[in-house]
Amino acid sequence: MHLIETRNLTYIYPGNVTALHSVNFVAPRNARIAVIGSNGAGKSTLFKCFNGIFKPTSGSVLIRGEPITQDNIREVRKFVGIIFQNADDQIFSPTVEQDVAFGPTNLGLDEETIHHRVHEALKLVGIEDLAHRVPHHLSGGEKKRVAIAGVIAMEPEVLVLDEPTAGLDPRGVHDLITFINSLSKQYGMTVIFSTHDVSMVAEVADYVYVMNKGLFVAEGSVEDIFLQPDMLKSIRLDVPVLPKLIRSLQKNGVPIPMAYTYEDAEQALIRAYKGPQKDTPQ
Ligand SMILES: Nc1ncnc2c1ncn2[C@@H]1O[C@H](COP(=O)(O)OP(=O)(O)O)[C@@H](O)[C@H]1O
Ligand SMILES: [Mg+2]
Repeated sequence: MHLIETRNLTYIYPGNVTALHSVNFVAPRNARIAVIGSNGAGKSTLFKCFNGIFKPTSGSVLIRGEPITQDNIREVRKFVGIIFQNADDQIFSPTVEQDVAFGPTNLGLDEETIHHRVHEALKLVGIEDLAHRVPHHLSGGEKKRVAIAGVIAMEPEVLVLDEPTAGLDPRGVHDLITFINSLSKQYGMTVIFSTHDVSMVAEVADYVYVMNKGLFVAEGSVEDIFLQPDMLKSIRLDVPVLPKLIRSLQKNGVPIPMAYTYEDAEQALIRAYKGPQKDTPQ
């Protein structure tokens, strides 16, 4: 059974704007899924259907095989945690600590459990030292971490991040990538994120949905998707710089295998430059 599944999900905004046209999406357990697409593709609308913020105009959204109803919506929101693009929409308490405690308090947990969860979440996102600060005085990257901590403290099984790298500096992007990967590897969490920044996709995702004008125009592994540069260009997305560079080296006769992540590209370049190494373990 999939953790999240949409079947022919269509969503039409008032004013007759069709944002999703019959989309079929699945999130299996422990997957790291990227939804890529340029502005207006329908990414945020899709995510808002995952925990019942939006109800399908037609088609369905199944969470662990069950449709979302009035009776299970609280459970669904505990199970699927969403971090919206604009952290300001998600932060409203006078201190960071109180803000992160908001979700667990609403779950009706006891004081001790709340305290424990809040501090674990702050530690996990690396902002324990900000616990007593006023959220609205923090930087964009810090606010994003507060929003993430608030959702993590609810201990969701699926974490959905809408354009998580928007507005972050390069160090912030790097930390976020490391963090998402650790959630998946150490805690078995399923992570779904959207972006139009294709450079981070290979570092995080094991499956990619490509969205344009409310439709999935392609889906598959990172390799499947980034081997279609013309398709990506046609919907105003770029091909990440690493495969582009390696493809160009290959065309110029450099014997180098394709690579999508920084580490793989680094190793491939070292090997291509030095030739096969006899004594060093590969
Ligand atoms: N509140 C709204 N009312 C009407 N149309 C909307 C609303 N929000 C988004 N849309 C439209 O729905 C489409 C998908 O938007 P969105 O899901 O925000 O895309 P993305 O997150 O990929 O940028 C766009 O055409 C957008 O203009
Ligand atoms: Mg959006």
